[in-house]
Amino acid sequence: MRAFEVAIEIEAPMPRDSSPPPADFIRRRSASGFSQSAAEGHSFRVRRASESELPFIKDMVRAARINPTGLDWQRFRVAVAEGEGIIGCGQVKPHRDGTQELASIVVVRNWRGRGVARLLIERLMLDAGAPLWLTCRSGLVGLYQRFGFREVGPEEDQPAYFRRMRRLAGVFEMLAKRGEYLAVMTWDGTHPGPS
Ligand SMILES: CC(C)(COP(=O)(O)OP(=O)(O)OC[C@H]1O[C@@H](n2cnc3c(N)ncnc32)[C@H](O)[C@@H]1OP(=O)(O)O)[C@@H](O)C(=O)NCCC(=O)NCCS
Repeated sequence: MRAFEVAIEIEAPMPRDSSPPPADFIRRRSASGFSQSAAEGHSFRVRRASESELPFIKDMVRAARINPTGLDWQRFRVAVAEGEGIIGCGQVKPHRDGTQELASIVVVRNWRGRGVARLLIERLMLDAGAPLWLTCRSGLVGLYQRFGFREVGPEEDQPAYFRRMRRLAGVFEMLAKRGEYLAVMTWDGTHPGPS
């Protein structure tokens, strides 16, 4: 079993190196199915979205100013915190040419930096399998590299959709104003994948 499958099973981020976790790093799954990090006081899990949650997903995606198209609730996974409801979302979007895109990854502000995106991304990768593609602003390349994605250069082979997205981003120059560019990345499944 790969490391990220274990992480999914206990529905909480795993310690990131092979050294033994600190004594107080206790993760357990409660009867309700929520996992818990006693050391960090986080308690959340990832599950499939329901139709009634679509308005909330749309709001999160719009607030994050990421691609608001193709938000089909049936493809979404949501991260849910005990007593707080939805704290994050993400999906794998199929394209006409059969390409699958990891997309719409958003975590609400006050839950960022606590491993919510990690759990969502790992779950989506595990469910969809390789190959996966994505676009992100260049500042997030490091995030996705942690999960085994590699950046694909403009000259490399890539599905037409991603080539088009790159060109469109260049036209609008929104990212260039921030000193960034639209990165295209892919996970081919042969990489060790998420740790
Ligand atoms: C990007 C975003 C989803 C990250 O969510 P998060 O829950 O804070 O991320 P996590 O805490 O799960 O972090 C996962 C890993 O990515 C790393 N990471 C998080 N944000 C990062 C960033 N901006 N750049 C590089 N690495 C980052 C973390 O250090 C962590 O690595 P580790 O597990 O090895 O320590 C969140 O900041 C967000 O919703 N941003 C706005 C929407 C957006 O830009 N979405 C991405 C669309 S492509």
